Amino acid sequence: MRADSTASGTPGSAATAANGSWPEDAVLTRPTLRAPRHRGPPGPHRSAGQDTERPEAVAPITVRLDADTHRNGGSLSKTIVTPEKTGGGSDAATGRTAPVKIAFVGKGGSGKTTLSSLFVRHLGAAQLPVLAVDADINQHLAVALGFSEEKAAAIPPLGGNLGLIKDYLRGTNPRIGSADEMVKTTPPGRGSRLLRLDEDNPVYDACRRPVGSCCSGMRIMATGPFQEGDLGVACYHSKVGAVELLLNHLVDDRDEYIVVDMTAGSDAFASGLFTRFDMTFLVAEPTRKGVSVYRQYRDYARDWGVALAVVGNKVQGPDDLAFLREHVGADLLTWVGQSEFVREVEKGRTPDFAALEPDNTAALERMREAVDATFANRDWARYTEQMVEFHVKNAHSWANARAGVDLTAQVDPEFVLGPAALEAEGAATPRG
Ligand SMILES: Nc1ncnc2c1ncn2[C@@H]1O[C@H](COP(=O)(O)OP(=O)(O)O)[C@@H](O)[C@H]1O
Ligand SMILES: [Mg+2]
Repeated sequence: MRADSTASGTPGSAATAANGSWPEDAVLTRPTLRAPRHRGPPGPHRSAGQDTERPEAVAPITVRLDADTHRNGGSLSKTIVTPEKTGGGSDAATGRTAPVKIAFVGKGGSGKTTLSSLFVRHLGAAQLPVLAVDADINQHLAVALGFSEEKAAAIPPLGGNLGLIKDYLRGTNPRIGSADEMVKTTPPGRGSRLLRLDEDNPVYDACRRPVGSCCSGMRIMATGPFQEGDLGVACYHSKVGAVELLLNHLVDDRDEYIVVDMTAGSDAFASGLFTRFDMTFLVAEPTRKGVSVYRQYRDYARDWGVALAVVGNKVQGPDDLAFLREHVGADLLTWVGQSEFVREVEKGRTPDFAALEPDNTAALERMREAVDATFANRDWARYTEQMVEFHVKNAHSWANARAGVDLTAQVDPEFVLGPAALEAEGAATPRG
């Protein structure tokens, strides 16, 4: 168990122990099962030398944004051109929109929670439905979203509801004999219950809470804190496993967002969770440690086709920006400066979100554009393949031994997660 792995290099160390839910799995090393998918060539930068100019947005993989912020009298204007065909992640072929799954990763203290919360509020301010998920060891997202400490602590943790989650998701899938046989990578198959973001179900009833007013469209779920009692018994991976299970069973067909505040550094690679996102924002301060986490993440991202974009944080001037550009290059999507608004929130005050500095609002909008642009890369078949791959790997490395059965038999070769699966499920089991 590593509470906060920020060192560069390959994350190491295998499982140690088990608890009632599931044991820590072996930390996965660089995968070898598949041919790596490399990103396309980086897009062009804008010329350097202008202190606060934001770089031409270069989205990962092959997506490149058309939008740009504009210099306007020395400060960034708020005018952002939304890229065509990408707004809200709408699918031109089907006319449907899709949820976008977004992870915030980075070194502890870099600003993952802060930027997650600002991004959630930015989407919320645009009246977009958004589910915030706190999957960090240090659970601060709810407070950053305006919960009191007491209210935050009262959010029922996903980690404490694993039995319910497994039982619900298992549904009538004949390949999963019991909830006990369900591990965090167990993929859905025919008979499994699939989730939509905007619905009522027992898991949401138990663990999902509204942020702000009930009608804000913002909601939160939390894995639960890593407690003293867990030390030496379980790893935090056992708790974030609930998030992996949920994402692997989630299908949506509307304009929605899921924002996951992830655990720091390389802990994210302990499972397949890091491959479950449409976009991963790596929050990097302009420091050597900040960029070393980036390098490490970039290598994993490249091998697994993970869309990665760096968001600089606490950028205070031209030198900070030059440092990030030097070390992050084309992956630097945008950056957030030292924020008075954030400081106010830190002091327990509740400034109106509209009071966020315009440059920082512009950065959030650019992030949203990057997120929406990833929709073109949505590939349910590949998403399903990856979850199966991680499951097979898990089964062989520890899960079969623990369960006493061959968990690879849980894989339903005919099943592909996606809208069609949701329709088939709905036909078999009409929802109320
Ligand atoms: N842009 C910012 N402006 C001012 N303070 C910031 C900013 N980003 C983060 N902080 C502060 O830095 C500290 C660490 O941020 P946090 O989001 O908790 O990091 P992480 O979640 O990565 O551990 C917090 O006190 C937060 O308020
Ligand atoms: Mg945090």
